[in-house]
Amino acid sequence: MYDFKIAAADTTTLYRDLAAALEALIGDETDAVANMANAASLIWESLPDINWVGFYRNVEGELVLGPFQGRPACIRIPFGTGVCGAAAETRQVQRIEDVHAFPGHIACDAASNSEIVVPLISNGELLGVLDIDSPKTGRFTEEDEAGCIRLGEILSKVL
Ligand code: SME
Repeated sequence: MYDFKIAAADTTTLYRDLAAALEALIGDETDAVANMANAASLIWESLPDINWVGFYRNVEGELVLGPFQGRPACIRIPFGTGVCGAAAETRQVQRIEDVHAFPGHIACDAASNSEIVVPLISNGELLGVLDIDSPKTGRFTEEDEAGCIRLGEILSKVL
């Protein structure tokens, strides 16, 4: 049984603990689906004020839904469309304070108000994106961005 209880006093410590837990969960496992599934669960259990966390994989130049926690989501997203598609196309983190102000935002859950999407890149190849949604406007700070980038680096090695 895995029983990670991550409840740190500050955001930097929270992400440090989360990164350590993610590395422990992955261990030497190389199965991408298993690692994405456990990562989604770990983040879902650990980050406050989120209503969706999961992965879109780069399948022949299109983002296709991967393991996640939260409500059922749209399955295919073209590069360049919505927040995830922007992250895939630009290979830049998208940290969106108010998704309703983002042109082309795809509303999978009407409760979502802010979002962060981290591109997952290995050896110059875009593997997919890590997407986290929140019902709170402006939920994701620069510290969240740094923490999510670290999680993305860990995951990019095993997807
Ligand atoms: N809102 C995302 C779509 C994916 S869901 O949030 C799970 C977007 O605009 O790309």
